[in-house]
Amino acid sequence: MPTNTAAWLPEARADLVVGPATMPEPGPEEMLVRVRAIAVNPLDDVKQWTGDLMYRWLPYPAILGEDVAGEVVGVGSGVSRFAPGDRVVGYAVGMERGRRHLAEGGFQEYVVLRADLAAPIPDRLSFEEVVVLPLAVSTAATALFQSDHLALPHPDPSPSTARARADRGTVVVWGGSTSVGSNAIQLAAASGHRVATTASPHNHERMRALGADVVADYRDPAVVSQLTAALRGDRVVGVLAVGTGSARPSVALAAATGAARVALASPAVSFGDLPRRGGPSLRAMSTMMRLGLSTSLTQLSARRHRIDARFVWGSSLMTNEVGRMLWEDHLPAALADGRHVCAPEAEVVGDGLESVQTALDRLRAGVSARKLVVRL
Ligand SMILES: NC(=O)c1ccc[n+]([C@@H]2O[C@H](COP(=O)([O-])OP(=O)(O)OC[C@H]3O[C@@H](n4cnc5c(N)ncnc54)[C@H](OP(=O)(O)O)[C@@H]3O)[C@@H](O)[C@H]2O)c1
Repeated sequence: MPTNTAAWLPEARADLVVGPATMPEPGPEEMLVRVRAIAVNPLDDVKQWTGDLMYRWLPYPAILGEDVAGEVVGVGSGVSRFAPGDRVVGYAVGMERGRRHLAEGGFQEYVVLRADLAAPIPDRLSFEEVVVLPLAVSTAATALFQSDHLALPHPDPSPSTARARADRGTVVVWGGSTSVGSNAIQLAAASGHRVATTASPHNHERMRALGADVVADYRDPAVVSQLTAALRGDRVVGVLAVGTGSARPSVALAAATGAARVALASPAVSFGDLPRRGGPSLRAMSTMMRLGLSTSLTQLSARRHRIDARFVWGSSLMTNEVGRMLWEDHLPAALADGRHVCAPEAEVVGDGLESVQTALDRLRAGVSARKLVVRL
């Protein structure tokens, strides 16, 4: 009988500790997966660093982690898409409200995945390559396709002509070299749109290879006017704002180009500016004041220009048709025929659950167009 092990978050702001865990059991629409690769997300770092600022409902000890790839070892009675032995990649939703927080947390050897938030892995792709996708591609799809965000038409496997793409309109993905952005560029292009994006200059070629038509440097003080000029004549159908501080320039760009919707994926300030020890402090007060002020100014500016600017919650696709469209219809076929590539590129940080904390520490120090991955 196999045993299970997890990288536990024992209490608020602690380092992860590897130790035994209960073997989870899948429900009817779920499957049990032996995890072979894990990726880390800013969300895991923010939860660990800030204690209960986010995900207050998560009890300790907790198992964080959203991105997993591995082999199916058991399926629930209602699952017909997968069978034991299948190689799968999936979105572990244990941190979400109302889910089984321990069974569905990604940082463990055996995890329960919802079958409707998983896709088969084509033979030519490794666990490490494909594990970069789950939270990032889910957040991108939520922002682009959900009716309360940009509400774009769903991806279409038939290629579009330049004329058809121009007619359908342009989507701006602010922060194209982020994990969310790299997937959003591909999904927006797959749904027949022209795509404009921002990234540091050393990532511009990467952005074009993913499907971006227009690329600008988000650090250039003139970036909003450069993009506005580059998009003159385009019908801009929406802006997805990814990256700390992306909300205000994204709303300004929407106002300048006539886009009526902005999907906000990132907070206005970095939670890494908060002290890890918690409790009141001048730094905490200043960070929270900047967050409140910048969020309010963004919303005021959006209202003044009649722009609908809403914050994205990347897991909300599991409650609507976008989840199935992405994980059951689009990704399996698009990964198999190479229309959707695994981006950003995986960088393996180490082997074993002990390396997850190393990966989180590396993520905190900053990455550029890379996803940090641990092999199990
Ligand atoms: N709302 C949600 O549900 C949800 C879900 C997932 C992620 N997020 C948020 O989305 C953001 C990205 O997450 P991720 O995992 O995709 O990040 P990531 O892959 O770790 O992002 C790294 C990239 O961020 C880029 N970047 C940093 N600051 C930027 C800015 N101001 N504008 C544009 N690009 C910037 C860097 O670009 P260069 O190297 O090119 O400079 C770098 O390549 C984070 O804020 C995260 O918290 C939100």
